Amino acid sequence: RGMPWFEGDVEPEQVPEKYRLGRAYIPKTRYLDPEFLKLEQDKLFPKTWQIACRSEELPDVGSFVEYAVGDYSILVVRESKTSIRAYHNSCRHRGTRLARGRGRVGSLICPFHGWRWNLDGSIRLVLDREEFVPRSDDDLGLATVLAEQWGGFVFINMD
Ligand code: FES
Repeated sequence: RGMPWFEGDVEPEQVPEKYRLGRAYIPKTRYLDPEFLKLEQDKLFPKTWQIACRSEELPDVGSFVEYAVGDYSILVVRESKTSIRAYHNSCRHRGTRLARGRGRVGSLICPFHGWRWNLDGSIRLVLDREEFVPRSDDDLGLATVLAEQWGGFVFINMD
């Protein structure tokens, strides 16, 4: 009770008894219980700021790091010397994963049909556009995730 991480929209009474914090330790079950993991995947990870990487892991324009948590995959990309952006790692055409791990790119290229995105998330090229259902370029930008830097860390937030 009164723990700072329970302040806000969740009252201590709303936390199931078995997940309440003890006086001096966090119960081990929190790390082992599939039910608790599901609660985190449904209610915590998509809603909170998380450390995705250190900014020095993105040294050059076009450097990227894939941050994976639960079923989510986020691409953290250095757009410019001062700007780092984050996107759902998912093609706007059919959801193909755009990149894995880490690396450096000039643009983000879907491995399936070759659509490409600029580092700012805007669509750069729809290969064989006439083959696909018409959609405006404004509708084809990558799905953005919030990204902020603090103290050399890069944080993302999917909410
Ligand atoms: S699935 Fe990515 S371009 Fe078609």
